[in-house]
Amino acid sequence: MLDKYLTQETCLLGEKCEANKSLHLNSAKIPRLAVSREFVYRLFYPQIPIVLTARSGKSTAAMPAVSCMSVSNDPPLLAVAVDKSLKTNRVLKKATNFGVNWIDFRKRRIADSLSLPSKTNDKLKQAGIPYIDLLNAPILEDSMAYVICKKTQELNLGDHTLFVGEVIGAMASTDFDEYWKYSEYRPLLYRGSPFRAPYLTVARSG
Ligand SMILES: Cc1cc2nc3c(=O)[nH]c(=O)nc-3n(C[C@H](O)[C@H](O)[C@H](O)COP(=O)(O)O)c2cc1C
Repeated sequence: MLDKYLTQETCLLGEKCEANKSLHLNSAKIPRLAVSREFVYRLFYPQIPIVLTARSGKSTAAMPAVSCMSVSNDPPLLAVAVDKSLKTNRVLKKATNFGVNWIDFRKRRIADSLSLPSKTNDKLKQAGIPYIDLLNAPILEDSMAYVICKKTQELNLGDHTLFVGEVIGAMASTDFDEYWKYSEYRPLLYRGSPFRAPYLTVARSG
C-alpha cells in the first residue's frame, strides 16, 4: 500500500520517490502523500489572521496576515512575513511603526475586504473600515486587541520580507485578563481561500 504513495509524488528535492523513501514512516497506520514544498505553509492552517497596518506619508496599508508571531518576550518582539510584491511591503519599508490588530469572527468581513490589493492611498478608508492613528500606526476601531510595534529589523527571506518590531504599546478587550477568557471573544481562524467559508471559529467549551 505504501508503494502507491511512494511512487505517486516526487520527493521534496524534486527527485522520484525512490529517493524519498527515507521520508516515510515505517507504518501505514496513517496513509500519507508527499506534500509539495510550495504547499507546506498550508499545513499550519487553521491559523489566526491578524490585520497588519502601517502608514507612511499619505499611504495607509492594511492586510490580513497569518504569518505573524511573537518571537521574543524580553524584549517583546513580533515578526510578520509580507510578500515582497505587495503594497503593504512597500509601505512597511518606509514606515517607522506598524500595528497588529486582532479581530473577532463576527467581524470577518474586515479580513475579507482587506484581502485584495488596494486601489487607493488609504485602503482602510476605501473599505469603509474605521480606524485612528495611534503612535504612528493605523489601529482599527473594531479590533478586539491591538499592538503597536516600532520596526527594528527587516530580513530578506525568499519572496517575503520578515519585519520585526518591538512592542511599544498593547491594548485588549476586557475579555483578556493575562489570557483570553473567551466570554466575548470568538477567535477568527483562516482555513484557506478555496473554501466557500474560509473563516471559522472555535466552539465555546466549559
Ligand atoms: C487570511 C489571510 C491571511 C494572509 N496572510 C498573509 C501573510 O501572512 N503574508 C502575506 O504576505 N500575505 C498574506 N495574505 C495575502 C494578503 O493579505 C493580500 O495579498 C492583500 O491583498 C495584500 O494587501 P495589499 O495588496 O494592499 O498590500 C493573506 C491573505 C488572507 C486572506
